[in-house]
Amino acid sequence: MRQNENLVLIGPKAILVPYKPEHVLVYHEWMKSPFLQEMTASEPLTLQEEYDMQQSWHLDDNKCTFILLALPSPGTTSEELKTTALSKAGTVMIGDVNLFFNDPDNDKSCAEIEIMIAEEKYRRSGYGIEAIKMMMAYAMTELGVEKFEAKISLRNQPSIDMFCSKLHFRERSVSTIFEEVTLDWKTSTAQKIVGEEDMPEPSKEELEAMQRVENQILAFWENNVHSTTWEKS
Ligand SMILES: CC(C)(COP(=O)(O)OP(=O)(O)OC[C@H]1O[C@@H](n2cnc3c(N)ncnc32)[C@H](O)[C@@H]1OP(=O)(O)O)[C@@H](O)C(=O)NCCC(=O)NCCS
Repeated sequence: MRQNENLVLIGPKAILVPYKPEHVLVYHEWMKSPFLQEMTASEPLTLQEEYDMQQSWHLDDNKCTFILLALPSPGTTSEELKTTALSKAGTVMIGDVNLFFNDPDNDKSCAEIEIMIAEEKYRRSGYGIEAIKMMMAYAMTELGVEKFEAKISLRNQPSIDMFCSKLHFRERSVSTIFEEVTLDWKTSTAQKIVGEEDMPEPSKEELEAMQRVENQILAFWENNVHSTTWEKS
């Protein structure tokens, strides 16, 4: 979508930038990895197809993507980065985070969310959870998203753990054909609408856990995330 085409979000360790043609070569290299193809249920694309995909992510209102950068050194603060061109700050491209608006009834308050930390040495260092929180906060506050869904390979326990243990997504269904689990999560506003789900209503404990996560994410957004404008390198 074009809504975030010039938006940069700076968190304590992660930076989200719009997906631009200059990111495509690195992205294309990443997606040659059979492990990442399996974990993200992706097919390998030619370089030209990857450029076309970047354009599609840019122009399609049903898709929102950010490339995830790691801050260059622990010494650089996000406050300093607001005033330094990212290209000069030596940031490292490590992954991406996406939303798909693919509800069958075209309900724009529902989005599927995806995350990938492609650079192995940056995994298990807190970037994934920070990027997901930033994307969820952006989606809730700027795009009106109230319900998130995540489809994860049954072989991807790290990702299942992150969504279930850290963010209190609930298991909605398991597909043995696609070997994936579908998880979902909703805001306190969406929780007030009952009886429309094709799964049991959340328990009181599940509702409280989602509400706590929502409060944490919105407080994090308010207090720890800065925004600035994308500058071409
Ligand atoms: C899954 C993935 C997104 C997690 O991101 P990350 O930056 O590595 O994870 P974080 O350091 O932010 O960890 C957040 C939580 O996720 C879970 N987690 C992450 N890696 C884990 C692992 N190897 N084993 C078990 N749990 C793990 C834990 O609950 C962790 O919290 P904790 O450190 O307090 O225990 C990332 O490893 C990744 O992209 N892997 C490859 C591609 C992929 O699987 N994409 C997801 C497709 S749906």
